[in-house]
Amino acid sequence: MGKDKRRVVLVGCGMVGMSYAYAMLNQQTCDELVLIDYVKEKAEGEAMDLNHGLAFSGSHMKIWSGTYADCKEADIVTICAGVAQKPGESRMDLLARNTAIFKSIVEPVTDSGFNGIFLIATNPVDVMTKVTCDLSGFNPKRVIGSGTSLDTARLRYLVGSYFKVDPRSIHGYVMGEHGDSEFVPWSQVCIATKPVLDVIAESNGVYKKEELEKIEVDVRTAADKIIAAKKATYYGIGIALTRLTKAILGDESSVQTVSVYLRGEYKQNGVFAGVPAVINASGVQSVIRCQITDEEQEKFDASCKELKDKIAEAER
Ligand code: LAC
Repeated sequence: MGKDKRRVVLVGCGMVGMSYAYAMLNQQTCDELVLIDYVKEKAEGEAMDLNHGLAFSGSHMKIWSGTYADCKEADIVTICAGVAQKPGESRMDLLARNTAIFKSIVEPVTDSGFNGIFLIATNPVDVMTKVTCDLSGFNPKRVIGSGTSLDTARLRYLVGSYFKVDPRSIHGYVMGEHGDSEFVPWSQVCIATKPVLDVIAESNGVYKKEELEKIEVDVRTAADKIIAAKKATYYGIGIALTRLTKAILGDESSVQTVSVYLRGEYKQNGVFAGVPAVINASGVQSVIRCQITDEEQEKFDASCKELKDKIAEAER
């Protein structure tokens, strides 16, 4: 950081990548946006399309279809490239195909002299973040997965809808795998600074704990429902990636729920999983260690075991 031009390189110009690019243009997130896709013409067309909106966006972004050499001066390389879930597929089903794709992406990025932050969105994102870390040899603090950031936004939206409170005033995190073993540590979810469990206990039956269980299922199955309805999800993840990009470029030290490498936090080691972490220009500054219950710890352990088992299976 400290350069005068904040550059983001996006690898993968599919619906997720371009929803991210479009959100960044409208939120004026960076100064330079470089698009890379294995179909060069696609990247060129997307760059042209975005540039034609510049006059309306208030942004001064320079947007072009580039090459891996452009990564040298990048602050962030965001990888959205890969195959996406089809109806009935789990995120983990994509592992082998996307690992092969990453082998053709990460090396050219590091060979460019790139010395910034990797931001990974490709699913299964926790494992793909580890794959990126292994292939790049980067310090894990500089390799961040979108993790459960979108799941957390879904949680905040649904809890806010239930209690009729702006999602921005709902605080809490979805933890673990961005996938079927993710869970909500309800002991940590608050409206402002008041735990939702206390709000329910004091509501004389107006609010019910069973509703929280339904919300957790809705969070966990949201992507499946959207994919069944419109074949893919992309706006939510695109905006989530934009939020994470702003936290890095703005050196915010803001708490985001992302997939980070654990070194003993929440009693886990050597796995990338979704936790609340302080994110700034250096990447992961620290992990916020919430006081989760024993039952919540068991869920986190189970989710991390799921991730470790899948990684071991893939490495066999
Ligand atoms: C979803 C994709 C990004 O949860 O995994 O919508």
